[in-house]
Amino acid sequence: MEEVIFATGNEGKMREIRSILADTYPKILSMKEAGIRTEVTEDGKTYEENALMKARAVAAMATEAIVMADDSGLEVDFLNREPGIYSARYMGESTSYRIKNANLISRMEGVPEEKRTARFVCAIAAVLPDGREMTVRAAIEGRIGYEEKGEGGFGYDPIFFVPELGKTTAELTEEEKNLVSHRGKALRLMKEELKKL
Ligand code: IMP
Repeated sequence: MEEVIFATGNEGKMREIRSILADTYPKILSMKEAGIRTEVTEDGKTYEENALMKARAVAAMATEAIVMADDSGLEVDFLNREPGIYSARYMGESTSYRIKNANLISRMEGVPEEKRTARFVCAIAAVLPDGREMTVRAAIEGRIGYEEKGEGGFGYDPIFFVPELGKTTAELTEEEKNLVSHRGKALRLMKEELKKL
């Protein structure tokens, strides 16, 4: 059984990745656990390009493992799908999400419900030990709220309202979010694609 290295340093993501992939891949390591350090400039034009760049950089140092990486973002339709691939860098990487979220809410002032549509998008890339590369993409649809709600999740979760659930993604437990999230869906898709090989 091959081991999987996921190119992230984010512990929350690692928990989600482990819970979804554990039945197929018992050994899943973060970059740190695999003893790999690399800085990748995420200057691709798509989520897929950015995810692939990260996966390739780690795969160059780990030839025996399946290396995966993800890239995600929030697309707000009314704002021409901003911040999109620049979601982490929106208003500056070190700016707090209180401020980023307040800014997005104010840019949406007066925008009616039906035009507040948005989605979280996630692409996952995998580089296999034989050099083959794959990408998958998934999304969760929602709307930009009128105020922050919920204490869970991270980033833009408090302003991302999911009409079917009647909650923001910050009001979901970690398990509930993994079932519906862009990343959860993309991880399950990737697992299915890898099984086909
Ligand atoms: P990353 O590529 O997964 O690191 O995500 C890039 C950025 O997109 C994050 O820094 C957040 O701003 C935003 N983002 C991605 N996924 C989520 C999520 O599940 N909730 C809230 N914000 C997210």
